[in-house]
Amino acid sequence: MLRLREANPADAEKEWAFVRDMPEDENGLTNAWHGVTREDFMRKALPAMLAFARGENLPEGYVPETVFFLWQDDTIVGQFRIRHFLCESLRTGAGHIGYFIAKPFRGRGLGTEGLRLTLEKAREIIPEDEIYLRVNRDNPASLRVMLKNDGRIVSEEESHFFVRIPKLAE
Ligand SMILES: CC(C)(COP(=O)(O)OP(=O)(O)OC[C@H]1O[C@@H](n2cnc3c(N)ncnc32)[C@H](O)[C@@H]1OP(=O)(O)O)[C@@H](O)C(=O)NCCC(=O)NCCS
Repeated sequence: MLRLREANPADAEKEWAFVRDMPEDENGLTNAWHGVTREDFMRKALPAMLAFARGENLPEGYVPETVFFLWQDDTIVGQFRIRHFLCESLRTGAGHIGYFIAKPFRGRGLGTEGLRLTLEKAREIIPEDEIYLRVNRDNPASLRVMLKNDGRIVSEEESHFFVRIPKLAE
């Protein structure tokens, strides 16, 4: 069974291993905690994630962000993040949602299904009527994931497409 679970202390062991192994930056999806030790994950990374979701201890200019892990049965296969609302830099930049599927699990529809589940969460969190996304032009797999979730390209620049997806009805 595939489901999204918000980052939480009960899942910390598996969350730690997943975050440690996520690359620092792949196609613009960044991970500040690449290589993190177990101790630092428990003491710093996870508390920081939980605080960000509550809108606490945010770096200057950041909006609240909730981190979800995508679970296939008892295994974490991906991470999906929702930024709760747009600020100017998100509106013209990375948008509301970022996601990552671990390499061994790619190409099986999990990115597409994970984004579908994230859009269901987004309707409870995001006030805007449309979900803003950005994707590198040289990342056709991610663009496909967006388009299969009713995304449409609204603009482009040298290295990115900007995509919007209507927010699901409440
Ligand atoms: C992008 C990413 C999430 C996709 O995850 P995934 O689980 O492999 O995605 P899916 O299996 O649901 O779908 C991938 C789609 O892209 C297509 N695809 C894959 N490689 C492709 C390529 N080189 N050219 C065109 N299409 C490609 C697949 O065929 C599939 O489409 P289909 O179902 O119509 O056949 C994953 O590659 C990833 O985490 N990449 C690193 C981080 C990243 O890029 N995040 C997104 C930042 S915007």
